[in-house]
Amino acid sequence: MHFPLLVFQEVPWQRLYGQTTSTTTEVRAMRTSIRLWNLIILLSASLALMPAVQAEELSRAAILSASCEGCHGTGGRSPGAIPPIAGKSAEYLREALESFRSGEREATVMGRHATGYSDEEIRQIAEYFSKQ
Ligand code: HEC
Repeated sequence: MHFPLLVFQEVPWQRLYGQTTSTTTEVRAMRTSIRLWNLIILLSASLALMPAVQAEELSRAAILSASCEGCHGTGGRSPGAIPPIAGKSAEYLREALESFRSGEREATVMGRHATGYSDEEIRQIAEYFSKQ
């Protein structure tokens, strides 16, 4: 990140503005205030970036669940022939996925689809759709 103020800070004020009357104290005061402004700008920039980082962590379950939404609809709210999975309990969804994966529950596509996920991923996906 490059802020123009960071550059100005290093230029003597007399040379920048052609001032000859400034006392050393005034120059120091100006530099201090510019450093404070730089600090404020940097702090607000970092604060602005923080929600983006948090959002990224939250969306891990959403990313895993994206492959399901092609068939089960956005957020699992299927409008068509494929059963909707939004709002079903995490326990129910986890058990369904595990029994599809093991072949215990009969399926046309879910058996194959569920084999791609680990126990932990199934837990996260089940949690995600239970909250939709
Ligand atoms: C290619 C389309 C397709 C995809 C992708 C898909 N499903 Fe399914 N899902 C189905 C179909 C069709 C059924 C009905 C069972 C069957 O025939 O396989 C089903 C059934 C289910 C059921 C049982 C619903 C109930 O009411 O008991 C659950 C739970 C489920 N899917 C979850 C998921 C999850 C979670 C994903 C993503 C990891 C996913 N599905 C991805 C098509 C799909």
